[in-house]
Amino acid sequence: MLRPGIRQYLLRIIFMMTVIIYAHNTVAQTAAQAWLKYRFLGKSLTVPTRVSTLGQSLLEQSAAIELRRGLLSLSGGAPLEQGPNIILLGTVQEMRAREPKTTVPSLGPDEFLITARHGDLAREIDIVGGNDRATLYGAFALLRKLAQGIDMSKADIRERPAMPIRWVDEWDNADGSIERGYAGRSIFFDNGHVRDDLGPVAEYARLLASIGINGCNVNNVNNAAVFLTPAMLEGIARIAQVMRPYGVHVSLSVDIASPQKVGGLSTYDPLDPAVKNWWATKVNEIYSLIPDFAGFTVKADSEGQPGPASFGRTPADAANTLAAALAPHSGVVLYRAFVYNHHADWRDPKADRARAAYDIFHPLDGKFAPNVIIQTKEGPIDFQVREPVSPLFGGLTQTSQAMEVQITQEYTGQQRHLVYLAPMWKQVLDFDLRVDGGNTQVQKVIARKGGGMIGVAGIGQQAWLASPLALANLYAFGRLAWNPDLTPGQIAEEWTRQTISTDPAVVRTVTKMLIQSWPAYESYTGPLGLQTLTDITGSHYGPNIESSENNGWGQWHRADHDGVGMDRTVATGTAYVGQYSPDVAQIYESTANTPDDLLLFFHHVPYTWKLHDGKTVIQYLYDSHYQGAAQAAQFVGDWEALKGRIDPELYADMLARFQYQAGHAIVWRDAIVQYFLRLSGIPDAQGRAGHYPNRLEAETADLTGYKVIDVSPWEDASGGKAVTCGGTSCSAAWTYNGQPGRFNIAVQYFDLQGGVAKFALSVNGQPPTSDASWSADATFPTPRPHGDNSTRRIVHDISLKPGDTVRIEGTPDGKDPAAFDYIEMLPVP
Ligand code: GCU
Repeated sequence: MLRPGIRQYLLRIIFMMTVIIYAHNTVAQTAAQAWLKYRFLGKSLTVPTRVSTLGQSLLEQSAAIELRRGLLSLSGGAPLEQGPNIILLGTVQEMRAREPKTTVPSLGPDEFLITARHGDLAREIDIVGGNDRATLYGAFALLRKLAQGIDMSKADIRERPAMPIRWVDEWDNADGSIERGYAGRSIFFDNGHVRDDLGPVAEYARLLASIGINGCNVNNVNNAAVFLTPAMLEGIARIAQVMRPYGVHVSLSVDIASPQKVGGLSTYDPLDPAVKNWWATKVNEIYSLIPDFAGFTVKADSEGQPGPASFGRTPADAANTLAAALAPHSGVVLYRAFVYNHHADWRDPKADRARAAYDIFHPLDGKFAPNVIIQTKEGPIDFQVREPVSPLFGGLTQTSQAMEVQITQEYTGQQRHLVYLAPMWKQVLDFDLRVDGGNTQVQKVIARKGGGMIGVAGIGQQAWLASPLALANLYAFGRLAWNPDLTPGQIAEEWTRQTISTDPAVVRTVTKMLIQSWPAYESYTGPLGLQTLTDITGSHYGPNIESSENNGWGQWHRADHDGVGMDRTVATGTAYVGQYSPDVAQIYESTANTPDDLLLFFHHVPYTWKLHDGKTVIQYLYDSHYQGAAQAAQFVGDWEALKGRIDPELYADMLARFQYQAGHAIVWRDAIVQYFLRLSGIPDAQGRAGHYPNRLEAETADLTGYKVIDVSPWEDASGGKAVTCGGTSCSAAWTYNGQPGRFNIAVQYFDLQGGVAKFALSVNGQPPTSDASWSADATFPTPRPHGDNSTRRIVHDISLKPGDTVRIEGTPDGKDPAAFDYIEMLPVP
């Protein structure tokens, strides 16, 4: 028999070795692909590199392992010190026990101190936690500073999280697909089971812990029933085990009809005793497998999910039944306020989806069990590019609340566009709902009682979020949930320093681009509070303005020949404005007080309506789209300026993304602008909308094999038309009649899935450059020519003179018919 001390020690070594080997040898997907890179900054560290712990708990051991790993890497692989200098980790109790004479302050849960002490003989940095998880948070905080090159020799830091719930929600399905995920398949599930290899899950938990996230709901809010089967729960227990060393507790989305679907009962009425009993038994089963299980998330009576309404019961009835089952185990229920009728009557001027959450949940305030938290999306509709703050945050004064935001960019460019969302979230967190005339900032409301922030993450196997810069959103979510007083700029800077470079020029440029990205996206999609104007009934990606109208989904903008916007005033509209406190309602009730960026969310106005600076609504629509697309083009130039200063792979990856985004911003610009030009009949004062003097439309070319088609929606193609190839190869040719000169030729083509069509541009039968042929190999949504897949390829620096023949040759492949829209001659500047 080994003595317990030695056994502990050996177990510790084995645990450390396993973690290190696991992390370095077998996991293809690592936290280092995100921000935990711990790059050597070319100088020695300002802190001791010997690490020791006072306690033996799993989380304290994780903290020590992470520190050693980070310090080793940050010091360029130099061996860690052996001498008297030390970083010491321990909880408050452990520190007090070690040195009874020193005054170690009391700390709250997850709160930590980092203090440098300089004795005569040794230097010491103490990381003291209010609990053992806090020592891990302290370790990550120290590493975060060091990775940015910050001197920590005199560290004196005390931090605590602003709110207790800091969770990510994954919308992963059991088959391994991810609802609204844009980074490949699930790291958790495959083919109906939990994956065998959970290496990436461990790495994900490290990432989450590094920014203070303490919960992870692993499955989709839709189709959740299967997750409560015994076999699946055993798998979930394995996930929990892998995340446990990082203090990330697992939770599950549940289908409220599970007692019937999984349990075989004849009902799922939440007030039925058999149903209550079923939930209690199921919850006991879960806790026997996962003692630190965090709780349930519920989507009910929403978008086709079953709910208590089927039995005439309220959300409080359903939530409280689950809460009663979870309470003995300290679990919580996150009941989503995303409950609305998606068969609303669009002809009814008083119908309004934005009202739903408040109408349903406000009357239930005070009726929820203490361990129920109402989870409300930040705006009243659905993660649009801009919405007002949900009035429900002011409408529940006795109930815990959590704010749900989306990290995965469903309506904001699906990670193909750079959209840094921290400025949007920050606006919401800082918004003051002025309940009873008091200071009711959203961040205060959600920090109350057991509330917090939930980020729908959508991470997958492709480098977490596919686009390297999109990871700034995951990072920012965690940082804001920890400390909503941080600014988006501060967060962008610290993320950039850890992830890309500490070179001030790089930090300045990347931060500037991140900060400009949300306003840019808003400008070329749905400005003035129009919501995103995307394909509501399909992909939620490219433009499709009318898809919002004439259906029950309720994302209406009410654009017609005379005007645009949804009247939500109390006086003449849907009275949604009346859900805010009087102080806030008086802002939105009048056009004079409503900020321009939300004007059309609250008011229906004629196109000639003057904004606060005197510009008309229609001219603003034109201008903002041109300005937004110009900004997207500028991102390419900004990024090019970083060449040679950053990792070449990252440079090339993001450059291709920015080039794509610049092209797709033009698709957006032209779609919205030509649509509103036709609808309003009011020309663009600057003469741009509908006039493309350098453009040669495919439908006007001399076509061999190609056929002219109508694109739907029409605004997604220049002039509403494109050409598509039915044979094995087709061509379109034009005779150039303009001024002689050098041009970049942009080819606007539709890159469809299900095949890799090929395109080639030639001048007088010859390829003008080596990059004049390419493959349409991207994977965009929608299986027919559409704004989702309209893509721009630019072939650079081509000499043209009158009489030259410019030709596009398209070779279809599989289901991709080499369709294209136009070519455009852009004079070389
Ligand atoms: C959006 C999203 C859905 C999702 C829903 C939700 O509407 O498009 O895929 O299920 O939000 O939050 O429940």
